[in-house]
Amino acid sequence: MHSDKNKKVLVTHQLPGDRIHDLSAHCEMNVWMDPGLLSPESLREELAGCSGLVCLLTDRIDAELIAANPALEFVSSMSVGVDHIDVKALTARGIPVGHTPGVLVDTTADTAFALMLAAARRVVEADHFIRVGNWTQENAWAPDFFTGKDVSGATLGIVGLGEIGQAMARRAAGFGMEVLAWNRSPRQVTGITSVSLDELLQRSDFVSVHVALNDDTRGLLDARRIGLMKPGAVLVNTARGGIVDEAALAAALSSGQLSAAAIDVFETEPVPLDNPLLALPNVVVAPHIGSATTLTRAKMADIAAINAIAALSGEPMPHCVNP
Ligand code: DGY
Repeated sequence: MHSDKNKKVLVTHQLPGDRIHDLSAHCEMNVWMDPGLLSPESLREELAGCSGLVCLLTDRIDAELIAANPALEFVSSMSVGVDHIDVKALTARGIPVGHTPGVLVDTTADTAFALMLAAARRVVEADHFIRVGNWTQENAWAPDFFTGKDVSGATLGIVGLGEIGQAMARRAAGFGMEVLAWNRSPRQVTGITSVSLDELLQRSDFVSVHVALNDDTRGLLDARRIGLMKPGAVLVNTARGGIVDEAALAAALSSGQLSAAAIDVFETEPVPLDNPLLALPNVVVAPHIGSATTLTRAKMADIAAINAIAALSGEPMPHCVNP
């Protein structure tokens, strides 16, 4: 089916990849060109009268915004996670929501593994130690100097055995790790032992979070569950901040129950500087860069454009999240 080229589509950021140029042939495309994040006010203004929206995970597409846009026919997000979008409200209107699964699996697992190694071996702390001039004759190599925690041979607990969780397990196998996993609907994967979430937390030296954020997983790692974690364990979160109780995590790190954490995602992003996790030297932080390679971001943008083109052409989106 041909698309109606007069339909207006808002693209909330300049996007990489090639397919975004194809999208402009299918609609009247309005790309937000300003640097930085599009404010909620500008999003509301720019979306008025649009048939389509190509957005980022930083754009909040809530019920109010959806209700204010009766002409909206599709939403395509350049992300795999869709917790920034009220999918229920869009589904109720029959509006398809596209996302970008698959292409960021290995890149995100690489980030999780890199952060896990960095936290275990105190890489960021050590880097800072040199740069501030602390590496001196009096404070140098010694048997206990910057000792960390072995990753090789340790037990890794994977919370959420989707594609990224499984990619994390493949990396762990290369380090001779024992891999435990919990998934809401249990999955049998060779080389991975399925356990309950509580058992995983009790047995794992490293816990890596790979579930999507939704009503079932918000606050999943709460104070009780963090309290179950093995003494000296390390928590890695590259999924979404809302899955982990940040205050409880900070308390467990301060008390010494946990030895370290590596956090790429926060409940509020950009993370406010008074977040207690930022005050702790045993926390490695990153600004939501799980999928941040040039190639992966181009592939994500291409899928977002392909989903949008399909919707404009009256075809099903290849990657649609609505039930
Ligand atoms: C996603 O696509 O949801 C990721 O969080 C991006 O890194």
